[in-house]
Amino acid sequence: MINPMLEFVQVFREFETERGRLAAVEGISLSAAAGEIVALVGPSGCGKTTLLNLAAGILRPTRGRVVLTPNARLAYAFQEPRLLPWKTVEENISFVQEGLLPAGEAAAARRRILEETGLAEFRRAYPRELSGGMKQRLELARALAVRPRLLLLDEPFRSLDGATRQELHALLQSEHGREGFSALLVTHDPEEAVLLADRVVVLSPRPARILKEVVLATPRKRRLLNRALVSSSLERIEGLLSSAG
Ligand SMILES: Nc1ncnc2c1ncn2[C@@H]1O[C@H](COP(=O)(O)OP(=O)(O)OP(=O)(O)O)[C@@H](O)[C@H]1O
Ligand SMILES: [Mg+2]
Repeated sequence: MINPMLEFVQVFREFETERGRLAAVEGISLSAAAGEIVALVGPSGCGKTTLLNLAAGILRPTRGRVVLTPNARLAYAFQEPRLLPWKTVEENISFVQEGLLPAGEAAAARRRILEETGLAEFRRAYPRELSGGMKQRLELARALAVRPRLLLLDEPFRSLDGATRQELHALLQSEHGREGFSALLVTHDPEEAVLLADRVVVLSPRPARILKEVVLATPRKRRLLNRALVSSSLERIEGLLSSAG
């Protein structure tokens, strides 16, 4: 791949625990091109969040290398929202934009994303006043609001009802269309992966190894409109997950 936005080269990660060394990630080589959305699917506890933490530089590999395009702005929507309880919804967003975007551009991005995530009428509410799904939406809104070049998303749609989930899928799609970021999208849901990604990386149970990469050739817009287009890829991924688990 020419100039990937993000590249993992033979990455291993182990943790020291009271019960000894625990291998979480084993020999992962993976890249995301500019504008590409790569989904990571795999069973619970296999090492998906560890991979995002490695991409974000929060963790270092035990062996191997993680290479990012220099100066590419990165945003990370964590699995557990990391909201500041003493700041309002809007302040939680403006806080992460500080120093990254000029004030006018930040305000415009904030307004758009508050509208699109359905949080506009709660802009002055505090995190304790939000439902679990709303906190999750705010975590996603915050990541999008910095206009990242590389977006790390850890199960951003997990505890949402079907309709809200579809709205947010459309939001990710439209933001990707206008901003063209690269993304690593972690999800438990193979259907979400085949609808939203360009490529799906299927991971083994811990330690995470790559079982298969499935390329989605049909344009994302058509897949979102006609889910039948993804049924064969979906079956392959579900088959891999169930035989590996
Ligand atoms: N800081 C840490 N110290 C020790 N062990 C860790 C640490 N972080 C993760 N692990 C272990 O690494 C393994 C992978 O964890 P990780 O959070 O990456 O899984 P996951 O695929 O994101 O799971 P889930 O789908 O449940 O979110 C687990 O066995 C976990 O206990
Ligand atoms: Mg996780």
